[in-house]
Amino acid sequence: MDSNLIIQGGRKLSGTVEVRGSKNAATKLMIASLLSDEPSVIENVPFISDLDVTKELCEKIGSTVDISPDRICHITTREVKTPLVPELSRKNRIPILALGPLLHRKGIAEVPVLGGCPIGHRPVNLHIEALQKMGARIERRENSYYAEAKELHGEHVIFPFPSVGATENVLLAATLAHGTTIIENAAIEPEITNLVDMLVGMGADIAFNQVTRTVEIHGVSKLHGTTIRVMPDRNEIMSFAVAALATEGSIFIPRIEASYLGSCINALQRVGGKIDEEEQGIRFSGRRPYKAIDIETGPHPGFMTDWQQPMCVLLTQAEGKSSIHETVYDDRFGYTKDLVRMGARIEVDKTCPAKPCRFHGEYFHTAHIVGPASLHAAELVVTDLRAGMAHIIAALIASGESRITGIDHIDRGYEEIDMRLRGLGADIIRA
Ligand code: EPU
Repeated sequence: MDSNLIIQGGRKLSGTVEVRGSKNAATKLMIASLLSDEPSVIENVPFISDLDVTKELCEKIGSTVDISPDRICHITTREVKTPLVPELSRKNRIPILALGPLLHRKGIAEVPVLGGCPIGHRPVNLHIEALQKMGARIERRENSYYAEAKELHGEHVIFPFPSVGATENVLLAATLAHGTTIIENAAIEPEITNLVDMLVGMGADIAFNQVTRTVEIHGVSKLHGTTIRVMPDRNEIMSFAVAALATEGSIFIPRIEASYLGSCINALQRVGGKIDEEEQGIRFSGRRPYKAIDIETGPHPGFMTDWQQPMCVLLTQAEGKSSIHETVYDDRFGYTKDLVRMGARIEVDKTCPAKPCRFHGEYFHTAHIVGPASLHAAELVVTDLRAGMAHIIAALIASGESRITGIDHIDRGYEEIDMRLRGLGADIIRA
């Protein structure tokens, strides 16, 4: 596939767009199915390359994976052919989640070291320490993690930060562990609820308290297959919503709910966007002038770190000084240099606008944006997934023709983004 998007800016987006199933839920549900030798059915999977990488991992392990054109994934792992998968054709952050399921089924496991977007330090110490506490012996090899455990046992795990991946890892490992596991300061993202729903459907005994961020898991001796539906992708929703507001258009997204979009809707309304909850979905629209606002990213229910990139583009169009304080990743503003080349006024510094966060004084993690700015077209190179969406939205509102390369990063998480934006009236082609 060619990796070029050519966008002629200046078109308002309007119409209806369906969002796909969440990348960050679907991939985890596939891993959860490895805990059982019975078939599971995962509905509403997105056709994105990160799912293909997870499929490759499962198939190497021994799963039969059949994904139909109507987005239904049938996955069965009757036998684990090999628990040792030290390499895959591409890297992402999913394989480490397979350690627990493989240890339960075979007592040994090997998975490749993690990849994912270059957005700062992304250690996996919390995953490893928790699994070690639960009885795994884990060795970091040159390109992989190798683990052994005769048996995993329940543990009391307290996270210093509510890590999404580490919470998922412990959840997966604890379902079949001997005894009770308690996770404190757990991540409570809706995608984790989707995973818990699947595990409970498979027979796991889990009490998930989102108010106290505590999860209590009583290990069971066996899990069975189940059917689960992947929740809508909240990053797609935010991306399309911002694209609608930034182009002063109006789009309708069917079959989504405000319940998992609180801080997204709140931020879009504060900017001056119009968000109408209708019976069948949500309409996003807006007109200038937009208002400058201050945003801080954080774990759910806070404003998602994956939303700040499209939002930053919208804030270049708002009147006055806005700021985005990134508190989840220490280096997630690289893309702002490109926006500046396109005419935006953005400065990134190491300070914290309000209460100091763990990155204070050390990392460039706060963006100050002054608007409104007229953006002009540019040649852009995408280096990470969500930054890629900032590039696309900037190009949609810029004067002239932008060319974006490196779109394999975007294809990791957005299915046929060019075609779907074209359906909303954008002048965008893949060439
Ligand atoms: N962290 C540690 N040690 C760990 C794990 C995390 O220090 O062992 C730190 C990270 O360095 C980071 C913070 O905790 O500063 C958050 O990391 P988290 O573990 O919550 O993130 P993740 O599981 O690696 C998932 C999504 C990300 C999303 C974050 C936050 C997947 C595959 N990825 O990552 O999605 O930004 O949660 O919500 O689910 C994306 O889709 O573009 C993306 C980056």
